[in-house]
Amino acid sequence: MKKNLFCIMMVLMFFFSCTEKKNIIVYYSRSGTTEKLALELYRHNIFADTMSIKLIEEYPQDFKATIERSKYERENNILPKLQNGKIDLNKYDTIFLGYPIWYGTFAPPIKSFINDNDSLAGHIVIPFATYGRGGFRNSIEDLKQSCPEATIKEGIGIASKLIHKVNDKVNQLYNNNSKTLCGGFSIEQEVDNEASLLFKQVVDSSLHIEPLSVSTQVVSGINYLFECIDTDGKDIEVKIYKPLPGQGQPQLTYIK
Ligand SMILES: Cc1cc2nc3c(=O)[nH]c(=O)nc-3n(C[C@H](O)[C@H](O)[C@H](O)COP(=O)(O)O)c2cc1C
Repeated sequence: MKKNLFCIMMVLMFFFSCTEKKNIIVYYSRSGTTEKLALELYRHNIFADTMSIKLIEEYPQDFKATIERSKYERENNILPKLQNGKIDLNKYDTIFLGYPIWYGTFAPPIKSFINDNDSLAGHIVIPFATYGRGGFRNSIEDLKQSCPEATIKEGIGIASKLIHKVNDKVNQLYNNNSKTLCGGFSIEQEVDNEASLLFKQVVDSSLHIEPLSVSTQVVSGINYLFECIDTDGKDIEVKIYKPLPGQGQPQLTYIK
């Protein structure tokens, strides 16, 4: 009897190990920053598979040369070809998809990966991105367009200058986005003209604080949360409250 039970359990375990779908962390990183975010995600997801997207002809190490080649490719609608483009995505439910922001959206190798894999149809996609300045919001909209039959989640992004805070960012993702929990902040986006003017109006220029990206939260008025850096490279968070029109001047909530 005991022996039969043991056999049934073994068969069930085998069955579940065969049918249970896994997660995969797929990323492209030219200069290693996005890879740091990918590795931190992997630390939280040690059962996930990982894959670093490799190109048949890698972009140059040199930044200027990469800009030149990528501009040429953009102007001529050329996508880089991948060494490891097509993969068996049937094994996976969720794809953590990582990329640097290039020209305001995901870097071209990600578009190649999407094209090679049926636009990731039927999968849950959790984007993670690194950027110089400007956030990653547009890339989410572009992913939704490129992968109409995938479920695209909000994901996380971090400015490359703040990559040392990668652990906090990943915790944010796993705490179901702590910013959202404390009240509906948008994901990081570009500091547009309006936000830039507000920042200059409220934050003393002698502090030499440079905003890298901004999230907003609609309250009775708008809260702006700026991810910033100072001249020593120290990361700083600036929160500004802008009341509804006619209800007073913008106020600095904190700098920390
Ligand atoms: C060709 C190119 C275009 C870029 N365009 C942008 C951009 O539009 N916005 C931005 O915030 N950063 C941009 N960056 C900066 C990268 O997003 C940033 O350095 C990123 O962290 C690099 O990640 P990686 O080290 O994983 O390649 C660009 C970098 C390159 C090489």
